[in-house]
Amino acid sequence: MLKRIKATDLQVGMHVVLSAGWLNHPFLKNSFRINSEGQIKKILESGLEDVMIDTQKGIFSAPAGKSTRTGAGMGETGNEIEIPVEWEPEKLVPSDLLEALRDSGMDSREKAGAIYRSSITLMEKLLKDPVAKNIREAKTGIKEIVDIILSETSTARELLKITTHDLYTYTHSVNVGVLAVLLSKSVPKSIPGGLAGQDMHELGAGFFLHDLGKVRVDSNIINKRGPLTPEEMEEVKKHPQKGCEMVSEAGELTEECRAIILQHHERFDGSGYPMGLKGHEIPLSGYICAVADVFDAITSNRSYQKSLTTFQALNYMKEKLEGKFYKQVFDEFVLLFAPR
Ligand SMILES: [Fe+2]
Ligand SMILES: [Fe+2]
Repeated sequence: MLKRIKATDLQVGMHVVLSAGWLNHPFLKNSFRINSEGQIKKILESGLEDVMIDTQKGIFSAPAGKSTRTGAGMGETGNEIEIPVEWEPEKLVPSDLLEALRDSGMDSREKAGAIYRSSITLMEKLLKDPVAKNIREAKTGIKEIVDIILSETSTARELLKITTHDLYTYTHSVNVGVLAVLLSKSVPKSIPGGLAGQDMHELGAGFFLHDLGKVRVDSNIINKRGPLTPEEMEEVKKHPQKGCEMVSEAGELTEECRAIILQHHERFDGSGYPMGLKGHEIPLSGYICAVADVFDAITSNRSYQKSLTTFQALNYMKEKLEGKFYKQVFDEFVLLFAPR
């Protein structure tokens, strides 16, 4: 039986049924048993005022003291049990990410949503505190996400549909990571400078961490809403090198990571930075990241510039940025968005 209660009256042990769609709250499922005070905190923080509880699956009353009555779903009705309150320490790789990745029975759209939200949490925490330990831990989470994108086509395609766009570097990092891993999967291994023999986990880490160096650039410049002065631009141009240094300090700088972090702003015609490389001097992985990077930048909302739709962005990149990218990589990127 469903009963409506105030979210502030929630208790550990209740089986909650959230009416909002799963995109509007931070949980994997709309219906689940509350196992920790942390989950109650999350519900309150998501802004839900009233929630439904299933009184047959979880506790439905809270007598004075620590004992609680249970419904049938938690054991024999009438038994009194004590439910431990678990305070999970903050982890860089969210437990719900691991849960989503392991849940093979989950609907692909729901799974993609859980992975996307968790990835954003992971990158947000990493960019707030990018110490070596966290960089290493982030790579573990990214490795799992890469495996899903490579092995579960339906989940990967859902991930492509649900990306959101904002000004935050952590959202951008996840979007670029997802897009670039998908693109790596579809770029033929046989094209010149192809990815054959490269470690996809390291490539994935490079894509997700491509802008890590921005945390070592003045945040006033990174967060500036408006065109940058030439001096500010020079500062921004240091982020590829700084990112390489950070990953190197964490002892995690492989050739695959280095190529992506250092070269995602290089351009086929030599107009990029930091080294002004051109043509096949730039590795394919650098071009893959570059295409995903530019696409996400121009489809994101920026106060001084109107964001473009997917179609407009692909058109803009084809018409205005011709000669900047590796043509075969860009052509494959366009195909990712073809209806199927
Ligand atoms: Fe960048
Ligand atoms: Fe970027």
